[in-house]
Amino acid sequence: MISSKPILFSAIQPSGNLTLGNYIGTMRHWSDMQNNYDCLYCIADLHALTIQEKKINLKKSILDTLSFYLACGVDPNKSTIFIQSHVYQHGQLNWILNCFSQFSELLRMTQFKIKRKIEKKCAKKTNVALFNYPILMAADILLYQTNFVPVGRDQKQHVELTRNIANRFNSLYGNIFTLPEPLITQYGSKIMSLLEPNKKMSKSDFNKNNVIFLLDDIPTAILKIKHAITDSEMPSKIYYNIEKKPGISNLLEILSAITNKNINVLIKELEGIMYSEFKNIVADYLSKFLSKLQKSYHNYRYDESYLKKIVYEGAIQSQLKSEKTLKNIYDKLGLIPLF
Ligand code: TYM
Repeated sequence: MISSKPILFSAIQPSGNLTLGNYIGTMRHWSDMQNNYDCLYCIADLHALTIQEKKINLKKSILDTLSFYLACGVDPNKSTIFIQSHVYQHGQLNWILNCFSQFSELLRMTQFKIKRKIEKKCAKKTNVALFNYPILMAADILLYQTNFVPVGRDQKQHVELTRNIANRFNSLYGNIFTLPEPLITQYGSKIMSLLEPNKKMSKSDFNKNNVIFLLDDIPTAILKIKHAITDSEMPSKIYYNIEKKPGISNLLEILSAITNKNINVLIKELEGIMYSEFKNIVADYLSKFLSKLQKSYHNYRYDESYLKKIVYEGAIQSQLKSEKTLKNIYDKLGLIPLF
């Protein structure tokens, strides 16, 4: 049956424990999106190989990530859920798109520059895949003729690069690729670190007190919120202003996401209270939110045969879908498809 819904693609790399940033920036929207889009939710394990940390148990991390997809309401009967490395077409298209990407445009990628700086600081050698990373992401997206890509703000530049590569290819070979658009929400698309609210909350942060992990135990998560940086404005006042009050604004974005309440409504409700009381409220809602999510996560996580069945079926469906695009590309490029 041909779907008439727009196609939506999203992915997370299983490179460690998922964070509240991952949840708020993308995963929290995934369940509802299933009603309006034909959704593909991918676990980008090949992307995770760019980080060669012995500490990461990739097999475990892939299944952990999958269990969180399900706990967030992604339904295998409505969406295609799969592991990137199971669908060989991604690697194939990645190589082809390399031939249509420019070295200079990849050098401009902010995320590459940031990661490279961190690696240099730790005297690590940067692997080529870290540079190539956004092209594999472009392959992920373009294989499925994706219309929309829900991402956090840090990934916007990669989706723009994807459009540029697709445009370049289309101008040479006709309308092969759909041009994808990023879906980025006004609030929650860049959750900041708790102690340094001028930088993004990130799973790879050396200081774990900067980050709420979805698997943090509840007392730890509460303490992290209570220690979050606010500001010294006197008298203290709760309102949203990213430049003047990055810490408070970040906590407001977190509270808004987990309560599903508009930020302006929250600001009215929180009028006149002290920062410490505000943090207690955030901690309280966060602990309820995490307890519920973790309970559901554990229910899925313990049944590995069910998890493997889902990704097996997802791989078959995505191979079928992506093969269509790849065959068309082979044909245009003068390669000979096998079948
Ligand atoms: P990754 O694994 O770093 O992050 C997954 C998603 O979470 C979002 N995110 C955040 N959103 C708000 N605040 C934060 N602090 C925060 N931290 C992370 C990211 O923007 C992202 O949407 N390359 C991608 C994975 C990927 C992908 C794709 C995404 C591979 N192929 C195709 C979309 C389409 C990545 O490493 O995301």
